[in-house]
Amino acid sequence: MRRAVVTGGGTGIGLAVAQRLLADGDEVVIVGRRRDVLERASAGAMGVEVADLREPDEVQALADRLGAVDVLVLNAGGMLARTGDGLQATAEVWLDEFRLNVLTTVLLGEALLPRMTRPGGRIVALSSVAALRGAGSYGAAKAAVNSWVTGTAASVAADGITVNAVAPGFVPDTEFWTGRLDDDEQARRVARIPAGRPGTVEEVAAAVAYLVSPDAGWTTGQVLGVHGGAVLARL
Ligand SMILES: NC(=O)c1ccc[n+]([C@@H]2O[C@H](COP(=O)([O-])OP(=O)(O)OC[C@H]3O[C@@H](n4cnc5c(N)ncnc54)[C@H](OP(=O)(O)O)[C@@H]3O)[C@@H](O)[C@H]2O)c1
Repeated sequence: MRRAVVTGGGTGIGLAVAQRLLADGDEVVIVGRRRDVLERASAGAMGVEVADLREPDEVQALADRLGAVDVLVLNAGGMLARTGDGLQATAEVWLDEFRLNVLTTVLLGEALLPRMTRPGGRIVALSSVAALRGAGSYGAAKAAVNSWVTGTAASVAADGITVNAVAPGFVPDTEFWTGRLDDDEQARRVARIPAGRPGTVEEVAAAVAYLVSPDAGWTTGQVLGVHGGAVLARL
């Protein structure tokens, strides 16, 4: 049985990934900051670890507790609302969004890299279509995630470890969109998707499941878009 770790596994896409890997036969540990959310999501079927993945000391302690890992899904992240005007507010949102998306990915990825199964280890990070769309500080942070993925993929390819990213488009059924969507905003976003509908958390989880499967052993350093055609076929 493989040992899988899913960060941000208590909600949204991360929870769907954790449930999919569990159904596929993996032993799964989910990580987040809110223990009650994780315990509820796990329902006794998954391991639970609490850590703020922006903090190096917390990440190191988590990595030491986790030990050997076969599958690592670096999903924790999100988009922040800017508060305030002026350059101070600009600096804060860019730095905070970088910490929320890039440090949560890179710190645990680097800490667990020496403990990943060789050969056969699988790492998938959650990026976004925003990395390709000029979407401000959030898009820039996800572009940095893509860069870490491609560089790390090259450095561990000879060890038989793959490192890829999944870049979803609009997937509303998550905490990411809590408080951000009224009917007009939802319709505006769907109108830009050639497939004519939003994505589901299960569809994103299916892409992750492929990339962590034995079948994907020669697929590495890739950013797989899961967005109903919203980038290359953009309306
Ligand atoms: N939904 C979309 O449309 C969409 C589109 C493109 C990309 N994405 C990406 O997909 C990923 C999953 O997002 P989602 O849509 O499923 O939203 P979500 O429900 O808000 O999930 C984010 C998860 O990350 C955890 N998390 C956040 N900061 C953390 C930290 N510092 N340390 C540990 N855990 C942390 C959260 O739990 P705690 O708050 O308890 O820590 C939460 O479970 C994110 O990287 C997001 O950027 C989402």
